[in-house]
Amino acid sequence: MTQTGPMIAVYPGSFDPITLGHEDIVRRTLRFADRLVVAVATTSSQPKKSLFTPEDRVEMIREVFADEERVEVTSFTGLLVAFARDAGAHVVIRGLRAVSDFDYELQMAQVNQELWPDLETLFLTPDVRYSFLSASIVREVASLGGDVSNFVSPQVRDRLVERFAEE
Ligand code: PNS
Repeated sequence: MTQTGPMIAVYPGSFDPITLGHEDIVRRTLRFADRLVVAVATTSSQPKKSLFTPEDRVEMIREVFADEERVEVTSFTGLLVAFARDAGAHVVIRGLRAVSDFDYELQMAQVNQELWPDLETLFLTPDVRYSFLSASIVREVASLGGDVSNFVSPQVRDRLVERFAEE
């Protein structure tokens, strides 16, 4: 990879919903990237029943980063490498919380490298405060009426409360 011009990174994921751990990874990326595209996948390699629609997830992330003009939020369908290429990005960001994340992340990074050798995957470690945090844990706690204020931004917490009040 030869980097010329601004460094554009893509941070793909399900973000169902975005957690403080994800937000931490976004802020860390902005220390070295010029622009970051947060890309909500409409299909994941690990299919799971989603709580929020991709549109709602995009909207929530946009609200969270409303003051950060270097962050763009969108959804994508299909291969990540195709999306990254179209976005002009040569860098994919993924968060690594623990060794348990590693097998799956390494496999994805290697597949993506095989599909498009000009794409580099960079792994960032979130603050240790978030090492236990995942969107699925947040969904579970919220679904059982627990307080998720320490896990997600206020806008996201409100959406979760609203969403489970509907059920
Ligand atoms: O937050 P997740 O669910 O761990 O994110 C996984 C994601 C969306 C990054 C991954 O499933 C993905 O890149 N999906 C797009 C399809 C793709 O490119 N698959 C080939 C690479 S494994």
